[in-house]
Amino acid sequence: MKQFNVGIIGYGWAATAHIAAINATGKARVTAICSSRKLDAQALSAQYGNSIATYTDVKAMLKDPSIDVVDVTSHPWKHKDHAVAAARAGKHIILEKPMALSWKDCKAVEAAVKKAKVKFALCFECRYSAQFIATKALIDQGLLGDLHYGEIDYYHGIGPWYGQFPWNVKKSGGGSALLSAGCHALDALLLCLGDDVAEVTSYATGSKSKIFKPYQYDTTSVTILKFKSGKVGKCASVIDCLQPYYFHTQLVGSNGSLLDNKVHLHGIAGMNKAKWSQLSFGLVDSGDVADHPYQSQFDAFFGALAAGKDMPLTGLKEALRSHEVIFAADKSAATGKPVRI
Ligand SMILES: NC(=O)c1ccc[n+]([C@@H]2O[C@H](COP(=O)([O-])OP(=O)(O)OC[C@H]3O[C@@H](n4cnc5c(N)ncnc54)[C@H](O)[C@@H]3O)[C@@H](O)[C@H]2O)c1
Repeated sequence: MKQFNVGIIGYGWAATAHIAAINATGKARVTAICSSRKLDAQALSAQYGNSIATYTDVKAMLKDPSIDVVDVTSHPWKHKDHAVAAARAGKHIILEKPMALSWKDCKAVEAAVKKAKVKFALCFECRYSAQFIATKALIDQGLLGDLHYGEIDYYHGIGPWYGQFPWNVKKSGGGSALLSAGCHALDALLLCLGDDVAEVTSYATGSKSKIFKPYQYDTTSVTILKFKSGKVGKCASVIDCLQPYYFHTQLVGSNGSLLDNKVHLHGIAGMNKAKWSQLSFGLVDSGDVADHPYQSQFDAFFGALAAGKDMPLTGLKEALRSHEVIFAADKSAATGKPVRI
């Protein structure tokens, strides 16, 4: 089977996890890295065990005909330009979240990807975690019955102890509590409840702790979602908390409930409703990129690419829908009014 050659844009924290995960799929390898900092090609080739060309200019890397896929791990405010340039160069695209910092820029990425007919994956890799693969299977097999309520919340204090803090605190860098990181939780909520969101109402605030004072935007938001199907949902994004990372998941259906890795299945005779039953999968419980399920996501992407198919679960359609809801939520928080979608 052909191994795809991948060129990475940006060589920061996320890129280091991407390279290990891409190479570990066995279906692709990173053969070029473009960073605004000048990198040592020899040292990188020795480190990753194959020849890696280095660039400081994105256009120069995109001219390399041997590169099949471009993986954009640059800062959020460069995502649109880098993804559009990659599409115009005819490269398939892996793009880190957020897709872009405005809905207009997300639509520009969509137009470029569609025009170039290239394949696209957005890093909403939580969909490929053991937790959400198992959770989705429980839903799809009807074990919880018909879901009518769900809340998926993101609690992760992104303070000065993170390398991204200096740029993430800026409105033009991190964007909002949802765009910065809570987008993973909102995206997971749409995975579980469906993407037929009709209306959102959101409120935002921020911690009084001086640790989070440098932020130029509200670092806690809570969004209520009304679905066309009648379901309701809630997503809190709290990036200014002082507590362990917690990806809180509660789903309620006509046949039972799920809380993180615990269930009560009312339809199964003999289960004790007074106690949760524990499931065995590992939880999404770390903000460290080394712990993220990138490898499973990239494995699916390169498998789909080899088969000439679109990316399952985290493709263009899902990326656009989740971002449309995120921008509507941020608009609601800014205007104090519900936003219809
Ligand atoms: N999916 C996740 O869970 C997850 C986790 C961490 C980061 N991220 C995302 O990954 C992206 C990068 O975050 P990070 O923490 O690695 O940031 P970082 O600051 O560590 O790295 C960003 C890199 O991009 C490079 N860069 C910027 N402009 C460039 C240009 N014009 N040409 C070439 N290189 C350029 C910088 O030199 C830097 O090395 C962000 O969008 C962030 O939101 C996602």
